[in-house]
Amino acid sequence: MFEKKISDSKLTVIRTSKKNSGQIYDLERRIFRVNECFSRSQLRYLIFSPNASFFLLRNNNFSVGFGIALRNKLRNGQYKGRIYSIGALPAYRSIGAGKLLLDAMEKYLIKSNVSFIVLETLKGKGGAEFFFTKHGYMESKFLPNYYPYGDAVRMRKTVATG
Ligand SMILES: CC(C)(COP(=O)(O)OP(=O)(O)OC[C@H]1O[C@@H](n2cnc3c(N)ncnc32)[C@H](O)[C@@H]1OP(=O)(O)O)[C@@H](O)C(=O)NCCC(=O)NCCS
Repeated sequence: MFEKKISDSKLTVIRTSKKNSGQIYDLERRIFRVNECFSRSQLRYLIFSPNASFFLLRNNNFSVGFGIALRNKLRNGQYKGRIYSIGALPAYRSIGAGKLLLDAMEKYLIKSNVSFIVLETLKGKGGAEFFFTKHGYMESKFLPNYYPYGDAVRMRKTVATG
């Protein structure tokens, strides 16, 4: 478990079972704009996917952020990791909560033998490109009109399998 003490809050990240997907559904709607969120059926699909793992950022007994990571086997036998979604409630941003979540998700993926991790994020203002760059991700592809609300960049980080 990853842990960080911030003033009177104690942030931890747990890998959570799929029965907590309702919390993720609610958090998503408080973190992203509605048109950026997974629908209930998309989330249900992820919940039953053996490739998906769910993470919750907890402040004491409350969930204040979440992450969804994917792991897929490639034709060459390697495993690819993907940060599918990550977010913290606005009050918990810029105090290291995002880093705590990302570190926990990466650690899990690396333990699961992925060779590299990819993600997509909105290009420009409103996206988190700078946040991921700070954590070692590099732009690998520009994706015009990737989202209904804008262009995206695909980012990639090579990791040492553990
Ligand atoms: C992306 C996100 C999870 C980062 O969490 P965080 O708790 O703010 O991250 P940290 O505190 O560990 O790091 C903060 C640093 O990352 C950078 N950063 C974080 N989010 C950023 C953003 N959206 N745009 C630009 N820089 C950002 C800043 O440099 C910030 O440094 P600062 O404290 O000097 O401002 C959070 O901003 C968030 O939930 N955003 C909304 C959802 C989202 O865009 N998710 C990514 C979709 S792929």
